[in-house]
Amino acid sequence: MPADAPVHYAVANGVAVLRIVNPPVNALGAAVRTALAEALRRAEAEAAVTAIVIAAEGRTFSGGADITEFGKPPVAPLLPEVIEGMDGLRKPVVAAINGAALGGGLELALGCHARIAAPAARLGLPEVKLGLLPGAGGTQRLPRLIGAAPALKIMAEGNPVGAAEALALGLVDAVESGDLVAAASAHAKSLVGKAPRRTRDLTNLGPREAFEAAAAAQTKRDPDNPSVAAIILAVRAAFDMPFAEGLALERGEFVKLVQNDRSKALRYAFFAEREAAHIAGLPAGTAARPVARAAVIGGGTMGGGIAMCFANAGIPVTLIETDAAALERGLARVNDTYGFSIKRGSLTEAARAQRMALITGKVGLAAAADADIVIEAVFEEMDLKKQVFAELGKIAKPGAVLATNTSYLDVDAIAAASGRPADVLGMHFFSPANVMRLLEVVRGAKTAPDALATAVQVGVKIAKVPVVVGVCYGFCGNRMLAARGVEAERLLIEGALPQDLDQAIMDFGFRMGPCAMNDLAGLDVGWRIRRAIGKRAPVADALHDAGRMGQKNGRGYYNYGEGGRTPQPDPEVTALIERIAREHGVTRRKIAPEEIVERLIYPMINEGARILEEGVAARPGDIDVVWLYGYGWPAWRGGPMFHADQVGLGRVAARLEAFADKSADETLRPAKLLRQLADQKRGFASLAGERRK
Ligand code: 3HC
Ligand code: NAI
Repeated sequence: MPADAPVHYAVANGVAVLRIVNPPVNALGAAVRTALAEALRRAEAEAAVTAIVIAAEGRTFSGGADITEFGKPPVAPLLPEVIEGMDGLRKPVVAAINGAALGGGLELALGCHARIAAPAARLGLPEVKLGLLPGAGGTQRLPRLIGAAPALKIMAEGNPVGAAEALALGLVDAVESGDLVAAASAHAKSLVGKAPRRTRDLTNLGPREAFEAAAAAQTKRDPDNPSVAAIILAVRAAFDMPFAEGLALERGEFVKLVQNDRSKALRYAFFAEREAAHIAGLPAGTAARPVARAAVIGGGTMGGGIAMCFANAGIPVTLIETDAAALERGLARVNDTYGFSIKRGSLTEAARAQRMALITGKVGLAAAADADIVIEAVFEEMDLKKQVFAELGKIAKPGAVLATNTSYLDVDAIAAASGRPADVLGMHFFSPANVMRLLEVVRGAKTAPDALATAVQVGVKIAKVPVVVGVCYGFCGNRMLAARGVEAERLLIEGALPQDLDQAIMDFGFRMGPCAMNDLAGLDVGWRIRRAIGKRAPVADALHDAGRMGQKNGRGYYNYGEGGRTPQPDPEVTALIERIAREHGVTRRKIAPEEIVERLIYPMINEGARILEEGVAARPGDIDVVWLYGYGWPAWRGGPMFHADQVGLGRVAARLEAFADKSADETLRPAKLLRQLADQKRGFASLAGERRK
């Protein structure tokens, strides 16, 4: 076997060790499958070999099937065939699971006759997150190994389990903290001469009622998900059919789902997220600056959450306020937020103590002097931000990255005030900062490439999904959101009610509609932002002026009752909207949900096209990632730019023309890029290749 083969073959003490070497994640593409099948044949044939170990190089055992192969003509040998062949061998085969074993990677391990895991191993079948079901025997083997109900949970929710839990479930036979391959080899030898313990022959399904109860719970949790339905069907088959028929049923479901638009969108989103981590246009060899300590300035809503992100990642952070009272309030809020997690059972007291110990509260900016990265989250006032950055420019360490969390202000103006603009950029977190995954990293005109690389790397370390954007009003996400907001106002005046807009958008797949979202953010927030730039929004302004601030005072577009979160339509709001319509001389009409969706979403896409045109975002996928992680865009619809391609840019452009004609709002005319692509019958996806670094 050539040295660069993706499966290395070596025999020691009668054990053949087959090591998968296919960086970065040992995906099981065609070359690996071919090499694996060949190595298994060889091991079975060689008389000197009595047992076989499947191991892997690097941090990952295997990330599963090569997702880039989906949607292309299948190349033999298929993974199920390789696994069936391995399962049928007379010699015992043991998996040495060094790290993540996901999807097809775990299915490969399930086809082995025993499994030994390192403590760092994570085992899971996340296919549901790609709109699929396990397609290489997972739906048939996992239930037979650990019971149908726990197996269903793993497959329907798609979350991996750690080594200890895997051991408790019976998913692995042992956890080995020493030399894993040696342990797996010893285990394999101990099985020689015994009948192989094939997972397919096990009868650990457990009681059928427990499975049916788990199935009902999963259907209730995720009612419209065809992957969950297919997984339930396949696991039920494990009760009702022989193994081989169950495998055939699983295959049939997999082939159906892989062609589904929903799975295409989810696979697209998987790669868009990873692509976003590659900064477009970064000079080759740019290295991030080392970051051992952070400082956050301002311990309010955002600052506290940002400090938590660092503490959660084990990075010491100084939280800086203007006076002792504000500092105490900020720290108490952080402590309480951890307290909610303790109450929910997702955090221990000890973990809270550990994290709180990583957060040092200080008064005065001088305390930022020893930080490698400083994130400013003071009030949204340009003069104050300039003042803070002027001082940071003087006191921060040379080479420290200085970031602002501003939502709308000009990052270049803030950078100039620091006197060292190469170190300055935006790191725009989303509220609540400790929860929301999106991080817009705003590249200023003078931001140094290594400062940018540092911010992105820090973002990944603190478990965010960073997307690099350029300087403009509202950056990528809020700028597109504003376009939706303008149209929402128009729809309300023309005839829709808040509940009509929200229902249409939720039926499209969002968890929350635009009106409920404004109520959650607080109507005073939008009002202040509009006032600062001299804009008006007749309905939102009137609600604000009527003292309706949203959820925070129980009244906004909806009523919430005392401390409630469930929106209840309010006839007073209907009357207010009808009055505004009269004032505008509008005769209200019934607006169909399809029109609502198009009118709310196409202007956003149009703004997205402008954002690409201006280079504010480098790739359409980056915009989609912003919407997926910052604004609750339904993952199975891929993101606004992906959705536009699915609809067809010709239709999107034609509808925008019609909206512009009707409203006399020229900003609704299709952006140049959109028009051009539509005329050429191309989609946004055709730009992706041109823009990758
Ligand atoms: N196929 C193809 N490429 C993959 C891949 C896969 N299964 N998994 C990861 N990659 C690529 C990524 O796109 C990325 O490429 P890039 O460097 O060019 O951007 C690179 O590998 C590294 O990926 P990550 O940045 O995600 O690396 P991490 O170290 O952070 O995470 C991981 C590793 C946990 C394995 C993570 O990559 C992951 O979750 N992968 C997907 C797992 C999955 O969904 N597997 C199921 C596949 S479907 C299947 O197996 C069907 C079967 O049932 C028949
Ligand atoms: P906030 O009002 O909750 O907190 C600001 C904090 O900064 C206060 O605790 C204040 O005492 C402190 N502060 C003011 N001047 C200071 C100084 N010189 N030194 C140290 N601390 C100082 O505000 P919030 O909501 O946390 O916003 C902060 C920034 O984050 C703003 O720029 C805002 O636009 C941005 N942002 C806010 C989001 C939100 O949803 N609240 C979302 C994303 C960004």
